[in-house]
Amino acid sequence: MSLVVGPVRIASPLAQAALSGYSDGPMRRLARRFGASYALAEVLIDRFAVEARSETFVRRHLRLADDDHPVGGQLMGSDPLQFQAAARRLVEAGFDVIDVNFGCPSKSAVGGCRGGYHLAQPTNALEIVARVRGTVPPHVPVTVKMRRGIDGSDESREKCLEILDGVFRLGAAAVTLHGRTVEQGYVGASRWAFVKEAKAAYPDRTILGSGDLFTATDCVRMLAETGVDGVSVARGAIGNPWIFANAAALLRGEPHPAPPRLPAQREVLAEHLRLAREVHGDDDPTPRLRKHLVKYARLHPRHADVRNAFGRVNRVADIEAVLARWYADDAEGVWGDEWVGVVSQRPPPDGPVAAAATDAGVGDPGSASRA
Ligand SMILES: Cc1cc2nc3c(=O)[nH]c(=O)nc-3n(C[C@H](O)[C@H](O)[C@H](O)COP(=O)(O)O)c2cc1C
Repeated sequence: MSLVVGPVRIASPLAQAALSGYSDGPMRRLARRFGASYALAEVLIDRFAVEARSETFVRRHLRLADDDHPVGGQLMGSDPLQFQAAARRLVEAGFDVIDVNFGCPSKSAVGGCRGGYHLAQPTNALEIVARVRGTVPPHVPVTVKMRRGIDGSDESREKCLEILDGVFRLGAAAVTLHGRTVEQGYVGASRWAFVKEAKAAYPDRTILGSGDLFTATDCVRMLAETGVDGVSVARGAIGNPWIFANAAALLRGEPHPAPPRLPAQREVLAEHLRLAREVHGDDDPTPRLRKHLVKYARLHPRHADVRNAFGRVNRVADIEAVLARWYADDAEGVWGDEWVGVVSQRPPPDGPVAAAATDAGVGDPGSASRA
């Protein structure tokens, strides 16, 4: 099961979502090593993407490693012309796909007429997509990230469907649909039924689903239940790149893998640190890494202690000390609080989920070669 985004062929349906503050080069490269075949960078405001010249900005946001492709660069803004210039800069930087953000619910985004704000303005939203498509070379696909509306009203739903239809007509190669409204932010359920409806309405178009993908089981379930072409894994991948390998195993019809043991966790943590130091050069990467580290702690059997220890790190030597203290022994890992919560409410991975996946053609053992 592969993913087609215009001329870009993506080997599996598992994608690392755009995550502001998180999905930088190190996170994306680690996600790929575990099986994410496509990854999106953090959203950039169009004006910064055009004007920012500092070495720090370029290193963090525009410099792409050789093993970080295909990669999507994402933009949000309010002015169609500014969007065009920003899209050109991302293409020059080497991004393989340009993604337009019509989903960000933050006050500053919506207040600044960016992100999710556009879901209330189909005409302007479509002009942005037309402009970006018109300026980006044909071999670079343009895609859109959107939510199911500003709020739960019928009017908002109609506008969302108008934008969805319009962006495909204008040549968008794929849409990632988050089943929450802008008003919901990140709380409450993501309405997968809406994602399913959208995919059914556009069976020949590439649609990725987003929302409530916290475990590998969730990823396989969304593919099976909604028929989407791919899943965009967001919070579920923070501190847990294993989610991609686990989902790939389930898609091959294999049982859910056991949690990584502590030496394997330590290796990944050390690699994340190494990659971050590579990107940040002389700047200490610790402040940016801290929030990843506290999430990695969920997989440790003493997760509360480890989370507290990671929460206090202020420099690289502190991180190394936590690794030396808490990851020295060989012990079993755990899948963490959220995992435990989820399995208590949902069927186990090798139960009806695998059956549902097979029904949808994604769980048969032969799918590995297609994945
Ligand atoms: C901290 C954070 C940052 C995010 N940043 C972005 C972003 O830069 N671009 C984007 O399209 N979506 C962004 N999102 C939305 C996610 O990609 C995803 O659509 C959303 O979290 C729903 O998925 P989940 O419930 O599985 O986390 C962000 C979400 C979170 C929690």
